Amino acid sequence: MKKTDIKATITFSDGSPSVELPVYKGTVGPDAIDIRSLYNTNQKLCFDPGFMATASCESTITYIDGERGELMYRGYPIEQLAVKSDFMEVCHLLLRGELPNTVEKDAFIKELRQYSMVHEQMQFFFRGFRRDAHPMAVLVATVGALSAFYHDSRDVSDEEHRESSALRIVATMPTLVSMAYKYSIGQPFVYPRHELSYSANFLRMMFSTPMEDYKINDVLVRALDRIMILHADHEQNASTSTVRIAGSSGANPFACIAAGIASLWGPLHGGANEATLAMLQEIGTVDKVPEFIQHVKNRTGGVRLMGFGHRVYKNYDPRATLMRETCHEVLNELGLKDHPLFKVALEIEKYALDDDYFVARKLYPNVDYYSGIVQSALGIPTAMFTGLFAMARTVGWISQWKEMISDPEHRIARPRQLYTGAARRDVKPIGDR
Ligand code: CMC
Repeated sequence: MKKTDIKATITFSDGSPSVELPVYKGTVGPDAIDIRSLYNTNQKLCFDPGFMATASCESTITYIDGERGELMYRGYPIEQLAVKSDFMEVCHLLLRGELPNTVEKDAFIKELRQYSMVHEQMQFFFRGFRRDAHPMAVLVATVGALSAFYHDSRDVSDEEHRESSALRIVATMPTLVSMAYKYSIGQPFVYPRHELSYSANFLRMMFSTPMEDYKINDVLVRALDRIMILHADHEQNASTSTVRIAGSSGANPFACIAAGIASLWGPLHGGANEATLAMLQEIGTVDKVPEFIQHVKNRTGGVRLMGFGHRVYKNYDPRATLMRETCHEVLNELGLKDHPLFKVALEIEKYALDDDYFVARKLYPNVDYYSGIVQSALGIPTAMFTGLFAMARTVGWISQWKEMISDPEHRIARPRQLYTGAARRDVKPIGDR
């Protein structure tokens, strides 16, 4: 963070003294005014519900230019990472700061693999759930429970502990997500295999049974890997901020990731891919698109076009373009070129990009718009979509958590409020109320 010569001056019309505040510059992107001294010097707070103009931290991990529709992990554009690297390389990049060379990549994968199997006792933990429990509820609980199984790596002040819990959580997520699925359909859990790639291993744990091994298809494995890359990090979104806030108190990393999963579950965040597919299924056919768009514009029953719009992107989400490309590849590979929901999705996109309501509000498809169709073509059931998002985002969450803990400026997150409740009053005896 670079201090600049620029100063921001805030003046008040009530006679309070004006304040001069320092302004910082990032590598790219908007400058940030440092308001930390405002309360101590002037007893004034900043009001910013929903964090519309608040930089909650300094970070070197991910950069988004919402106006231009750009996303970079550690400076590398997502379009290049999606075609020139795989998810393991991206994990190395996010966790360790650089893309690995071949030797580093092999060593990283080896290190990660030792953590991929969960404690055998976790099976009994799973068995406590109803079979029809939502997989996200199961994930919140089982990821939180990891802290009860791996006490030995919970000291957040120890760098080695932080590193080993980071690797454990990234390596364990595919195992836990597939266990949540297997449990929901009453099939036996499938153990991870070291010789397979991250994505191939996950598909095998999801779809192998004791009667039949899953046949690995490289196009589908590559599609899953791309979903993982595109969802790996997205700077200070709701779930990442939740992880950072939970971690700011010194809470253990497994509990922090469980908090992130809970936040991701909501339909305005990670739950949007599930909601998008439900919406496409409800619309059903291309001829119903104009009527549905009209409902969205009239806000009938508060209906929104799921998979559209973003707090930061005011342009096409670059991840949506890559996901649409993957959607074409997967549907071609599976002989589903005429997939009815894909047709509906393309029609809605065409309609919305040409409609004043969406144009004026800068509403474009986001990453979740096409990812539901890809996932369902891979055989992933709708209820598992957000679980896959969580699996991909875990590396981003834990990288952000690690960055926060080692930032000397980090303090417990403690926002303030603008109180508008009752002024001081006295409690009357119950008979007089
Ligand atoms: N459909 C219809 N109208 C919308 C939509 C939408 N998807 N998104 C925003 N608007 C309208 C909204 O009604 C408002 O209109 P007006 O100014 O006339 O009241 C305007 O656009 C601004 O919306 P907002 O709710 O103030 O914007 P926000 O930045 O608070 O919300 C969002 C961002 C992503 C929650 C929202 O666009 C949304 O609900 N999208 C649908 C859910 C979705 O796809 N979420 C996935 C986000 S990407 C993956 C992730 O990060 O998790």
